[in-house]
Amino acid sequence: MSTKGKSPADSAVEQNVYKVFPNDLNSKYTVFGGLVMGLCDRTALIVAERHSGQSCVTAAVDSFVFLAPARAGDTLIVKAAVNRSWRSSMEIGVHVAAENSFNGDTRHVVSAYLTFVALDGAGKPTSVPTVSPQSEIESRRFEEAQQRRTARLESR
Ligand SMILES: CC(C)(COP(=O)(O)OP(=O)(O)OC[C@H]1O[C@@H](n2cnc3c(N)ncnc32)[C@H](O)[C@@H]1OP(=O)(O)O)[C@@H](O)C(=O)NCCC(=O)NCCS
Repeated sequence: MSTKGKSPADSAVEQNVYKVFPNDLNSKYTVFGGLVMGLCDRTALIVAERHSGQSCVTAAVDSFVFLAPARAGDTLIVKAAVNRSWRSSMEIGVHVAAENSFNGDTRHVVSAYLTFVALDGAGKPTSVPTVSPQSEIESRRFEEAQQRRTARLESR
């Protein structure tokens, strides 16, 4: 397959929306964290599959921070983009906001970094396109992703 560089915009998910209903809540009546984690994993998977053109699996979650609770009635807005790729792995950054859709108030509730690995038809890790950052913010994410990978490999 081609290993030509692709920009993060080529595979980004701009807005995956999820309306919170009462059955999504924990015993404190805020949104169950596992639901948000699953939503992030699914959204990031789409980015990994768009970027690589292959089936991908979640290999690791480097960071998953709940910054604020989301509540009943909120609309969760998930954004995800590839920060960097290596041979077969890709780091996907995910941002979740909780929107009050009646008045437009929006709160940043989660930031996360997930690593996916692309698999070939035999289930073996396979090479993926490189990432070509196109903006200052994409370049910063590209550099920071390498720092996280280095730290992860050192801690193994
Ligand atoms: C992820 C997986 C495919 C890696 O397989 P592996 O035999 O370790 O493959 P390799 O050692 O050749 O590594 C392949 C890539 O995975 C990356 N990788 C492996 N383990 C990793 C980890 N814990 N964290 C981040 N990246 C990891 C390697 O860095 C390598 O990346 P690179 O090719 O870009 O350098 C394998 O561990 C697996 O199938 N895990 C289960 C995945 C899964 O079921 N996910 C769903 C969870 S519910």
